[in-house]
Amino acid sequence: MATCINAPSLAIFFLLLPLLLSSPSSAARPHALIAPLTKDPKTLQYLTRLNQRTPSLPLNLVVDLAGRYLWVNCDSNYVSSTYRPAPCRSSLCSLASAVSCGKCYSSPGIGCYNNTCGVFPNNPFTGTSTYGEIGVDTLSLPSTDGLTPSSLVSDPSFIFSCAPSFLTSGLAAGVAGIAGFSRTRVALPSQLATKFEFHSRFALCLPSNPRSTGAIFFGPGPYNFLPDIDASQSLIYTPLLTNPISTAQIYNGGEPSYEYFIGVTAIKVGGTAVALNKTLLTINKKTGYGGTKISTTVAYTTLETSIYKSLTTAFSAALANVSRVAAVAPFDLCYDGKGLGSTRVGPGVPAGVRGCFGFVDGGSLPRTSIVIGGYQLEDNLVEFDLANSRVGFSSTLLFRRTTCSNFNFTSSP
Ligand SMILES: *[C@@H]1O[C@H](CO)[C@@H](O)[C@H](O)[C@H]1NC(C)=O
Ligand SMILES: *[C@@H]1O[C@H](CO)[C@@H](O)[C@H](O)[C@H]1NC(C)=O
Ligand SMILES: *[C@@H]1O[C@H](CO)[C@@H](O)[C@H](O)[C@H]1NC(C)=O
Ligand SMILES: *[C@@H]1O[C@H](CO)[C@@H](O)[C@H](O)[C@H]1NC(C)=O
Repeated sequence: MATCINAPSLAIFFLLLPLLLSSPSSAARPHALIAPLTKDPKTLQYLTRLNQRTPSLPLNLVVDLAGRYLWVNCDSNYVSSTYRPAPCRSSLCSLASAVSCGKCYSSPGIGCYNNTCGVFPNNPFTGTSTYGEIGVDTLSLPSTDGLTPSSLVSDPSFIFSCAPSFLTSGLAAGVAGIAGFSRTRVALPSQLATKFEFHSRFALCLPSNPRSTGAIFFGPGPYNFLPDIDASQSLIYTPLLTNPISTAQIYNGGEPSYEYFIGVTAIKVGGTAVALNKTLLTINKKTGYGGTKISTTVAYTTLETSIYKSLTTAFSAALANVSRVAAVAPFDLCYDGKGLGSTRVGPGVPAGVRGCFGFVDGGSLPRTSIVIGGYQLEDNLVEFDLANSRVGFSSTLLFRRTTCSNFNFTSSP
């Protein structure tokens, strides 16, 4: 059993870039929306739960910050009276940047209509993509004032892609598909923002414990955690950067990346910046290589080899007096928990239990030099503010005496 250490603070600095905006006002709309966020202990995938279809069915979906839209397995028991396929060349197809428009030769039904447009839903864990029909159906989730959930609200025409059963291979048990949270207009956050008329913004608070439940907020704060801590008050913002070259496994030519890049310019260990090759920290505008992105489908922050080496060297120097123990994959540096009491933030690492440096070597020519993974985001609130083109980080909520698992999910009347 290995516990991980979440060591260096990432010092994040700035560049500017205005982008994406969303829209106006109407009556009786929810202030914000809320969804649960859990961690699957076996795959380390982060999952949410949304209701889809008529009659409504709760679905577990993997949260993917790089996903372009929501896709679900339509092959097994998709029953709904409100499903509608997207007719070829309709505005739904252009909104989804659908590329195909064809015939289906397997048994007709949901996911197999003729003259319907389609896309190529992707499973980032297996690297598989396949054809999937675009359709709309009802999607519902609880509204919130930021303190507790309240009544369910519905989008009767939520756009998503169908996928065949095999695309769910490699996903956590009981999962129906993937909820895309990227920057496209059909990603989950943008569709909800457009439908419920709030600025396009969402916040993730990843739980550190597979037995507890974190939260996803769609729309404005507060983002409240017991005992009455509003995490939106501790956000520090950095500009959201755009990589002009797609980083997707499958994409249309000329598309930018729809992932969330930020400008990390320095990494500090114990207050001292480690030496880094600055070229690697910058996005190369011609090739799309380099830079830093945030990912919920990578378990541990993954660093280009030279960055990884500088960081492990600095880290092992800072922990020179703590006994090393045999490392467990995928880590290289592990310590006896006994010596770590004063050096880390987070739950205790007991004596006799390994505490590993929770970063992974990403090789010498990765597409993106730093991929901030789920583990380093846990018990931090991260706000993706598309309307203002910025990303906000609360620092660890443990310093504020709360955790991501302290949202009050008891519904208020
Ligand atoms: C679609 O059209 C083709 C050719 O017209 C036909 O063979 C096929 O069965 C149709 N599929 C569905 C799902 O209706
Ligand atoms: C820094 O990284 C760039 C991109 O990989 C590489 O071309 C360059 O040689 C590196 N510079 C040094 C000093 O290692
Ligand atoms: C390690 O322990 C020695 C002796 O107690 C002390 O002088 C030194 O500063 C310590 N080094 C670190 C990095 O804590
Ligand atoms: C959680 O919210 C419910 C409903 O608003 C409320 O009754 C309850 O007291 C809250 N729990 C705590 C611990 O504040």
